[in-house]
Amino acid sequence: MKPTVAPFPAARLRRTRKSGAIRALVRENTLTPDDLIWPVFVREGDGIEEPVASMPGVMRRSVDRIGDAAREAAALGIPAICIFPYIEQSLKTEDCAGAWDPDNLSNRAIRAIRTAAPDMVVMTDVALDPYNINGHDGFVVDGEIVNDATVEALVKMTLAQAEAGADIIGPSDMMDGRIAAMRGALEAAGHQNVMILSYAAKYASAFYGPFRDAVGASGALTGDKNTYQMDPANTDEAMRLVQRDLAEGADMVMIKPGMPYLDICRRVKDTFGAPTFAYQVSGEYAMIQAGAQNGWIDGEKVMLESLMAFKRAGCDGVLSYFAPEAARILNN
Ligand code: PBG
Repeated sequence: MKPTVAPFPAARLRRTRKSGAIRALVRENTLTPDDLIWPVFVREGDGIEEPVASMPGVMRRSVDRIGDAAREAAALGIPAICIFPYIEQSLKTEDCAGAWDPDNLSNRAIRAIRTAAPDMVVMTDVALDPYNINGHDGFVVDGEIVNDATVEALVKMTLAQAEAGADIIGPSDMMDGRIAAMRGALEAAGHQNVMILSYAAKYASAFYGPFRDAVGASGALTGDKNTYQMDPANTDEAMRLVQRDLAEGADMVMIKPGMPYLDICRRVKDTFGAPTFAYQVSGEYAMIQAGAQNGWIDGEKVMLESLMAFKRAGCDGVLSYFAPEAARILNN
């Protein structure tokens, strides 16, 4: 559709910007707490809420504290929480067996949230990096991140999370064939209603830096993730990945990072019409917080503007570390 505009002065586009009321009336997009998924970090221990240095305002919580966070989110109207585990360096291994342990940190956190806030949608992360001695999302054999053996491990991880009560499985690993393998295993195990939100278009991004600190993976990581995550220069490839993951049984898809990739969000939504999410990643969060802490930008306004940008770009929702803060403001 081509916008038609009468010549001036018949058209004065400022007319509909005249007051708050008229601006509200013609507003094309809205942002509400319903749009938010809150990523949280869990760790071992008791009674711990430990700040993440590179992500001001973000905590790593012990499992006994995660229920409080879930209740807080529920009270704010945030529909979903996504769990990421912080695993100590000494517990990381080459075989990553912790990843599919039914009683691992993530699975205990899933159960704790289930109990504390029964209506909360619980999303998980499927990838080996928190458990991997070398920090990669897949097994490393002779310097190569191997695909098919990794997919087998991801399936075991998926089933353990579904058993623990996860609603949405979030594969962030970028291996080929994982969605079909996970979907088949979920169906076979009686988990027909467990959803998969595929990190379909996940770029090899420097914006993940602070997250790798948060989960303790920066020290571990050897090399880069360029053989499995996408080249930031590519667009068509993102479309092929989304198409492939939807065809393999993903219920929803994600674009990650968020703000530098809004073009991908728009193209994915327009082409596939599937539930589409963006991940406003750790580096995006950290930059806004840093600017705000230095008094260079108005943190609240930039936060809300950045979140609205995802809605405008066609996303149905956004994973953001700002979720509780944004919800608090939006509720007022
Ligand atoms: C790894 C994973 C990453 C993030 C989520 N899952 C980092 C990476 O791929 O190295 C990044 C999230 C963020 O930066 O906020 N499986």
